[in-house]
Amino acid sequence: MTDWSDRTALVTGASRGIGEAIATRLSQAGAQVILVSRKQEGLDQAADRISEISGTRPLVQPCHTGRPQAIGALFEALDAQGIVVDALVNNAATNPYFGPMMGLEWAAFDKTFDVNVKGSFEMARQVAKRLIAAKQGGSIVNVASIYGMMGAPFQGTYAMTKAALISLTQTLAHEWGGAGIRVNAIAPGLVDTQFAAAIVNNPAFAKVFSQRSALKRHGQPEEIAGLVLYLLSSDAAFMSGATVPIDGGYLAG
Ligand SMILES: NC(=O)c1ccc[n+]([C@@H]2O[C@H](COP(=O)([O-])OP(=O)(O)OC[C@H]3O[C@@H](n4cnc5c(N)ncnc54)[C@H](OP(=O)(O)O)[C@@H]3O)[C@@H](O)[C@H]2O)c1
Repeated sequence: MTDWSDRTALVTGASRGIGEAIATRLSQAGAQVILVSRKQEGLDQAADRISEISGTRPLVQPCHTGRPQAIGALFEALDAQGIVVDALVNNAATNPYFGPMMGLEWAAFDKTFDVNVKGSFEMARQVAKRLIAAKQGGSIVNVASIYGMMGAPFQGTYAMTKAALISLTQTLAHEWGGAGIRVNAIAPGLVDTQFAAAIVNNPAFAKVFSQRSALKRHGQPEEIAGLVLYLLSSDAAFMSGATVPIDGGYLAG
């Protein structure tokens, strides 16, 4: 059984949606939790909601995870407080362009890769570097998407970043497994958050999703969090390099 009171978990994109749901469950389980996203206000509000539920207030650290220098500063701030993260959830992502690949502009391409791939890697590297130096194991979960496993018309760049994240998960699992650091990914299907509002709130799009999925509906953020806690926990001690779909049976359709 995992003793969460020994664990320090950092969740990116934790000010709302899936990240907040994961951070809430981690805090309820007794982990020390650090919430990261760009905006202080959103983080403070999430910390208020979480402390009301769990009785413990998470730390908040604003950081734009698409900027490696900002990530460096984040970890220097944690170092200064003597905090070593041993459970990382790379959940922050962006998807600025919805449209056919023919119309793609490089600025949108670069931003999507900067946040979803470069940022997730740099977060993982900063965590692993410190764990390896401390001769301590740990666990990383990357939040990918079913779109990393299939073609995604109109969301092509986003899907490419999620496929890259799945590949990164496999490579880092190999490179860091000997140091006791496990790296896994989850691939959610459609989940009711601000990120997916354009699809969830569009009856035609939402119907396409629900018809194909085994459970005939989209998911809620709280339905994603338990899998992440499992992958971070010692119950998943023999799991690494895996990508687990959590999609209401969409990929099975
Ligand atoms: N919802 C879905 O249907 C779905 C499906 C598959 C996968 N996913 C994945 O699930 C993850 C969470 O998505 P969500 O649906 O929960 O989205 P959401 O509700 O829109 O939340 C996104 C979070 O990321 C933060 N964020 C955005 N850009 C950031 C940046 N550059 N640096 C740091 N934080 C940043 C946001 O806060 P700030 O604005 O304060 O930065 C917010 O906390 C993403 O990786 C997404 O790709 C979602």
